Amino acid sequence: MKYDRIATLLSKSQAGRQVTICGWVRTFRNDRFLAVNDGSSVSNLQLVLEKENFDEATLKQLSTGASVTAKGLLVESQGGGQETEVVVEHLELLGAADPEEYPMQMKRHSMEFLREKAHLRFRTSTFAAVFRIRHGMTFAIHEYFHKNGFYGLHTPIITGSDAEGAGEMFKVTTLDLNNVPKTEAGEVDFKEDFFAKPTNLTVSGQLEAELGAMALGKVYTFGPTFRAENSNTSRHLAEFWMIEPEIAFANLQDDMDLAEDFMKYLLKFALDNYPEELKLLEEKELNDEKSKPQAERNEMPLRDRLKFVVENEFERVTYTEAIDILRNSKPFKKKKFKYPVEWGIDLQSEHERYLVEKHFKTPVILSDYPAGIKAFYMRRNDDNKTVAAMDVLVPGIGEIIGGSQREERMDILLEKCAEFNIPEDHVWWYLELRKFGTAPHAGFGMGFERLIMFVTGMTNIRDVIPFPRTPQNAEF
Ligand code: 4AD
Ligand code: MG
Repeated sequence: MKYDRIATLLSKSQAGRQVTICGWVRTFRNDRFLAVNDGSSVSNLQLVLEKENFDEATLKQLSTGASVTAKGLLVESQGGGQETEVVVEHLELLGAADPEEYPMQMKRHSMEFLREKAHLRFRTSTFAAVFRIRHGMTFAIHEYFHKNGFYGLHTPIITGSDAEGAGEMFKVTTLDLNNVPKTEAGEVDFKEDFFAKPTNLTVSGQLEAELGAMALGKVYTFGPTFRAENSNTSRHLAEFWMIEPEIAFANLQDDMDLAEDFMKYLLKFALDNYPEELKLLEEKELNDEKSKPQAERNEMPLRDRLKFVVENEFERVTYTEAIDILRNSKPFKKKKFKYPVEWGIDLQSEHERYLVEKHFKTPVILSDYPAGIKAFYMRRNDDNKTVAAMDVLVPGIGEIIGGSQREERMDILLEKCAEFNIPEDHVWWYLELRKFGTAPHAGFGMGFERLIMFVTGMTNIRDVIPFPRTPQNAEF
């Protein structure tokens, strides 16, 4: 079916054309004005019907959610709400949506309600805006890397390795769970399994990306990642998408510079290309915030927040400095933090958010974390206590990026494997990189959904991925 997309028909300069449109009814007023949306824009197109030309039965079925196609002349609008409208000559109802049953009515639905209707929530202005932006960000990510000499590398989804060493992995097997083959010692006999070894869904493409970087110089992976962490928070998914660049001949400073430049590029892309969507989401946020206490509201409206990040340098402080700041903070002194603050602990989201939202009021790159709380592959610093790691923290979310310079020295990496109980024969190929032409290199991982939360102002990660996977939840 050939038809005109509504996004291309909204400006006066288009008036005077015969057009064909297809879309879903948003509202029908006074038996005359039909607002239709086809997903190409925040704005609806107004179709003007001459009642006499259409039979009663059809008019009756033009309710919210019904699909229609129409032909007519695009003219400058008489009303004030829009630049153009269509004087309809022919209209066909493609599919009715019984108002008694159709759940997406033209009123504000709660996000919780819409999560239960994930198959229909794309039809709301909010979700359509979020997913148009999500598409745009995907495009911008590939564009950024392509322009900057990176090569995309598809790293495996099924793997035998546990890159992060966190052990929160989904197993992949074809063994009959009701009749699992056992070894003589009584353990699961993975020799009988599909890959003849235990395998899992990947928690990160990093280890494989490193292999690519040590030949192609600059690579990135952008794929689904899986973590079976049983954390039901507004920032965790069991299946999420991660962008992981990896650069050779680079140290932690280069890694931080890349992370900052990358983020600014993406936010600017959103501001330049999705002004209508961001305006809509900003209005939604301001409206939602009315019912929140002052302390929970954002300091700046959405678009100003994004501009602020694009235009200002990120703060860079070490973990050790951050601990000092936290221990000297009001909430620490007043015992308002739920979790302890002392050198060596993993920062909790309340600490991260204090640093970005209250102390620095801008994105912060924290670096040089204690070795004990970070992964085995991170490069040991000369102090022997910390590693060349960095996390980028942003207001409203906390950690959006985690990265590091990698340990390129074979002897130290072997020590780390032993400390972390990683059998050398599991990562022999990773170790060989250090044997043949090793070089300093670094990289990071950005949680794609956390980025989309930041760009759209959505406060729950379940609302920025089409079909969220969380504990107890894999509907749709
Ligand atoms: O900090 P993480 O665990 O780092 C890595 O996986 C490294 N291998 C990355 C690298 O250096 N190549 O995860 C990276 C980012 C986090 O900063 C966060 O934004 C996101 O991935 N993330 C999640 N997003 C949604 N749900 C989860 N369960 C997430 N876990 C991590
Ligand atoms: Mg992390």
